[in-house]
Amino acid sequence: MKIENGVFVVTGGASGLGAGTARMIVEAGGRVVLADLQREAGEALARELGTVQACFVETDVSNEESAKAAIDAAVSGFGGLNGLINCAGIAPAEKVIGKDNAIHRLATFQKVINVNLVGTFNMIRLAADAMSRNAPYGKRGIHGATAFGNDNTLKNLNPFAGAFDNFNIDIYGIPNLEVGSLVGNFLHCLIFNCLN
Ligand SMILES: NC(=O)c1ccc[n+]([C@@H]2O[C@H](COP(=O)([O-])OP(=O)(O)OC[C@H]3O[C@@H](n4cnc5c(N)ncnc54)[C@H](O)[C@@H]3O)[C@@H](O)[C@H]2O)c1
Repeated sequence: MKIENGVFVVTGGASGLGAGTARMIVEAGGRVVLADLQREAGEALARELGTVQACFVETDVSNEESAKAAIDAAVSGFGGLNGLINCAGIAPAEKVIGKDNAIHRLATFQKVINVNLVGTFNMIRLAADAMSRNAPYGKRGIHGATAFGNDNTLKNLNPFAGAFDNFNIDIYGIPNLEVGSLVGNFLHCLIFNCLN
C-alpha cells in the first residue's frame, strides 16, 4: 500500500507498538490519528510528529462514542481514512489461583475482553464503515494481519467482506515479524491487528 498521503488511525498510538507504527507512517509521508487513553504521551508524540501529519484524540476503544470520535477526527481533520492499526491493549497478569489462594478476579478478565476484543472489534466496524465510503482507486480491500494469525482470523474478518470491492486476507503466522515490514504490504484499505 502507498502510505504517502494516506490517513491512518493508530489505536494505542501513544506507546509501544502503536507509537512505533505511527512514527513509521509519518516517516513514509502518511498522516496519523493517535487514538489512546494516555493524553500526555499522545499529545507529546503528536507534537513530535508535527501537527500537519499527526493529531492525538483521547480515545477509549471500548467506548462506542469515543471510538467514533477518533474515526471522525481522521475523516474531518485529514479528509478520509485509509487504514486502521489496532495496537491498544492491556495484559494484566493474574493467576487463576494465586500464591495466597487468591482467585483470578473476574473483573480483570472482563476488562481485558472489553478492551482487547470488544474494543478492537468496535474500531474495526467503525473504520470499515468510514473506509467503505472511499472513492475506489486500484485494488480496494481488507488486509487482515496478525503476528500469530490462524484460520480464526479469516473467519472473524469474513463479515466485513461485503463492504469492499476486494476482500484479501493474508495471515502471517510468523512470530516477531516486524510491524514495519507488514505495513509495507498493505492494500488500499486495511485493518491490522497487533493483538492476539
Ligand atoms: N510488545 C509486544 O511484543 C507484544 C506482543 C504480543 C502482543 N502484544 C500486545 O499488543 C498490544 C500493544 O502492545 P505494546 O507493547 O505496544 O503495549 P503498550 O502498553 O506500550 O501500549 C498499549 C497502549 O494501549 C493504550 N490503551 C490501553 N487501553 C486502551 C483503551 N481502552 N483505549 C485506547 N487505548 C488504550 C495504552 O494507553 C497504551 O498506550 C498489547 O495488547 C500487548 O499485549 C504486544
